[in-house]
Amino acid sequence: MNPLHTINGFEAIFQHSPEAVCFAPGRVNLMGEHTDYNGGYVFPCALHLGIYGAAIRRTDRMLCFFSANFPHTGMVTYSLDDLALKGCWADYPVSVIRAFAAFGYPLSSGMEVYFSGDLPDGAGLSSSAALEVATGVLLRSLFALPLTQQELALIGQFAENRLIGVNCGIMDQFVCAMGQSGHALLLDTNTLSYQYVPLEQADLVIVNSGVRHSLASSSYNDRRRECETARAALEVPTLCSLTEETFADRCHKISDETCRRRAHHVVTENQRTLRSAQALRQGDLAAFGCLMNASHASLRDDYEVSCEELDFLVDTARSLSGVYGARMTGGGFGGCTVNLMEPNTTEPFASAIQNAYQMRYHRTPFIYPVRIGNGAHTIDY
Ligand code: GLA
Repeated sequence: MNPLHTINGFEAIFQHSPEAVCFAPGRVNLMGEHTDYNGGYVFPCALHLGIYGAAIRRTDRMLCFFSANFPHTGMVTYSLDDLALKGCWADYPVSVIRAFAAFGYPLSSGMEVYFSGDLPDGAGLSSSAALEVATGVLLRSLFALPLTQQELALIGQFAENRLIGVNCGIMDQFVCAMGQSGHALLLDTNTLSYQYVPLEQADLVIVNSGVRHSLASSSYNDRRRECETARAALEVPTLCSLTEETFADRCHKISDETCRRRAHHVVTENQRTLRSAQALRQGDLAAFGCLMNASHASLRDDYEVSCEELDFLVDTARSLSGVYGARMTGGGFGGCTVNLMEPNTTEPFASAIQNAYQMRYHRTPFIYPVRIGNGAHTIDY
């Protein structure tokens, strides 16, 4: 896709040109799953797939939203004087507008906004974070607000936590705002300090199981509560303040066996994330792949957020040549796998995995060979 689609779409719907155009990427997480709300490290990257937005201010207090990805919803309208959510996709940009007000930036006028994108919705590639951050970039540009990329990420997370009601961590919005082309981003979610690590020697392929993932209605918030129970029993500020050794010494304090396994995943995943960044810096892709495989096993067995289809895709991938490692990515309960591949091996991989999945589940998985793109930005046109 390119921004022209979005500009043309905006002009067809609103009958004039937009004032601001932007792009916000989806993300794939390479390592560090369910560590971001436990004070740990994550290692995602921004994708070249994402959401384009185009917008113009209005002179009244009306907000008009249209998404080419949800054409059946038609135009969704709100007034700045009544921003009650309506139970549709436009609740995301509206929640960001409410979050801007909560951060001290109430909008002075309404606007017209058009979105379109090539990011599959509900697949665990952070289409909601992309929509939130895209909205933030448009608002900042239209109203000339002095906000940094990191602040846009925090406002997006606030909207998702407090208004949409998904208690997510900061990973998705952060990498959507801060990603850098050709690099994975190692983020310490405890301090928000980060480093970019080049990832140029391998290809990334995402396979979408087609199993619909819905964070809001899934067990995501339950997992957070289980981690909190474990953290309180261990009397530590965050689960990720423990090493595998200190956890082993203390884990008997967690009386509930399920909570103990959840915490075991978090502590080991955090260590794997640090090791994987180190492996990548040293160009040791085989070691990186082994860590990905171990991460998947931990998510499947200790954290129980995988599903049969994801396990099948991961097992199949590992039997194919050219694959350094494979794991589910994102919150889980469906969605996608991420595969770290030797360069130029993606075509035979894609057809082999498509055939195997088709035979087993009688449907075709979508395969996305992806490039690592930049964080959200405005586009001059
Ligand atoms: C979702 C959340 C993130 C993170 C992942 C799991 O993507 O939005 O904050 O918790 O799940 O790693």
